Amino acid sequence: MKVAILTGSVRSGRQSHKIAHHLERKLRERGAEADLIDLAETPLPILEDRSGRPPQLQATVQGLSARLRRADALVFVTPEYHGSFSGVLKNALDYFWEEFDKKPIGVVAVSAGKLGGINASTQLQHVILSLGAFPLPLKLLVPEVQSAFDESLQLRSEQVAKAADRFLDEYLWFARAIVQAKQAGEISRPLVA
Ligand SMILES: Cc1cc2nc3c(=O)[nH]c(=O)nc-3n(C[C@H](O)[C@H](O)[C@H](O)COP(=O)(O)O)c2cc1C
Repeated sequence: MKVAILTGSVRSGRQSHKIAHHLERKLRERGAEADLIDLAETPLPILEDRSGRPPQLQATVQGLSARLRRADALVFVTPEYHGSFSGVLKNALDYFWEEFDKKPIGVVAVSAGKLGGINASTQLQHVILSLGAFPLPLKLLVPEVQSAFDESLQLRSEQVAKAADRFLDEYLWFARAIVQAKQAGEISRPLVA
């Protein structure tokens, strides 16, 4: 199972990437291949052309496209900004489409408050439907993220650690079911010819 984790926060002092690294480690422990795509390392300007036609953008867009295509399944990690997911993540998603076709996608939302990005997470699940992909019903919420990790980025919140394990149990079950159905030819018709 190849899993791409896409993180939607690039601001200085960001917190969301911490849970992305935790999930990357945990997925590898469970035998999955994990590729963490950090949009801070591969910045995409506000979308002007989905194909990334400006020559200086082509390599970045094609590189990201290849990493997304390689993935059997994805995890989107987003902070909650003003009651929704981040604009950075939405802008990145808008560059691509076929890359997500009929793939299982898990949602992880992070907030400074106690609700763990619940609004961001449900709205992002709706967007995943529009990508032609399958959102995992269970989402992972990380409340009070500023105190959930120690200085070396290790998770110290037992509550979040338990929730993350449960999320990964569900996620891998869901993702394997879809991948196996594809391998058996049961989900064969692509959305895009
Ligand atoms: C522009 C902005 C808007 C925010 N809006 C919300 C919000 O609506 N609800 C909430 O719980 N936290 C909100 N926060 C707090 C963030 O959830 C918190 O800073 C979290 O760490 C964001 O993830 P990040 O550090 O990866 O950017 C907001 C933060 C920023 C920067």
